[in-house]
Amino acid sequence: MLIQSSVNLKNYNTFKIDVNTRYFVEFCSLDELREALTFINQHTYPFLILGGGSNILFTSDFDGVVLKNTLKGKKILQEDEEHIWIKVQSGENWHKLVEYCVNNHWSGIENLALIPGTVGAAPIQNIGAYGTEIQEVLESLEALHIPTLHIHTFLNPDCQFEYRNSIFKKQYLNQYIILSVTLKLRKKPKLNYSYADVQQFLEQNQLEPSLVNIYHAVIAIRKEKLPDPAMVGNAGSFFKNPYVTLDHANTLKKLYPNMPQYPLNEDTVKIPAAWLIEQCGWKGYRNQDFGVHPKQPLVLVNYANASGMQIYELAQNIMISVKNKFNIQLEPEVHIKP
Ligand code: EPU
Repeated sequence: MLIQSSVNLKNYNTFKIDVNTRYFVEFCSLDELREALTFINQHTYPFLILGGGSNILFTSDFDGVVLKNTLKGKKILQEDEEHIWIKVQSGENWHKLVEYCVNNHWSGIENLALIPGTVGAAPIQNIGAYGTEIQEVLESLEALHIPTLHIHTFLNPDCQFEYRNSIFKKQYLNQYIILSVTLKLRKKPKLNYSYADVQQFLEQNQLEPSLVNIYHAVIAIRKEKLPDPAMVGNAGSFFKNPYVTLDHANTLKKLYPNMPQYPLNEDTVKIPAAWLIEQCGWKGYRNQDFGVHPKQPLVLVNYANASGMQIYELAQNIMISVKNKFNIQLEPEVHIKP
């Protein structure tokens, strides 16, 4: 195990924030991970697990140990006429896995194409896009319990999945490191093209709804709307879409008849944060190197050399204006590292 000192993290976070970490350790096996955690426990350093670095905003240098997950490998565990169970190590790239499954005609994650990050990070925030969430196909996962260094298995219900949330962001925050994920995919595709953008893309391009076409549609839509982190620093949606009570939604609808609203149940309504932010005049905003993406205001961007603090302050200002105008408290989706 190699412990590197004073490592720059600019190329390890998709926001491209220029900060350093005191120590940096890459682990590519369970033994290396246990060794790294023993080192951390001996010195009581704070630590941070980094997968693709695609859901984090560093606001300052990190005075601890960054653990970079490079656990690799995938294995078919089982298959029957209808399903296949595939176990994937947590340091694998998520999109590469999607591509591999689509090439093999296994369905279930095609709507989640092009989401940046690793397989291990995917269940932590229950990644979702275009009408699908990983919770629909996740059978189980294995995770290392940090205090005891024991491996625990979590079945799907144990993960307590919610919209962009799981037990690993709640009571087990910083307690576990995901080692592998087992997905149950379909050999006979069950297609989901109910999301308006996907449906429209298929119609406009006169494409049959098929596994491969949905995959390509999602890629095309994402490329059109979302900035490529390789070109412009960003971490996808910066905020979650807020939920409000039905009463609140009805009051808002009277004031803003064009407000899009998606009822989730009898008394909860989801409102697109992108719409709220756009209405507050932030869409396309730019100051120096930080700003709000012109095509998708939910995405904050670093055009070149913005600091994490500048992006953080921009996020705070957006939250204040949405709160003042709509009485809705936006919540960041991105993990903010103080
Ligand atoms: N909208 C605007 N102005 C815009 C863009 C969007 O008002 O400039 C409104 C429209 O009403 C639109 C609605 O926002 O119908 C929804 O927009 P979009 O379909 O682009 O999705 P989103 O709610 O903004 C969510 C996820 C994305 C995911 C897409 C597609 C969250 C926080 N974000 O965005 O996930 O790709 O749906 O399913 O739930 C991510 O998590 O990083 C991410 C990119």
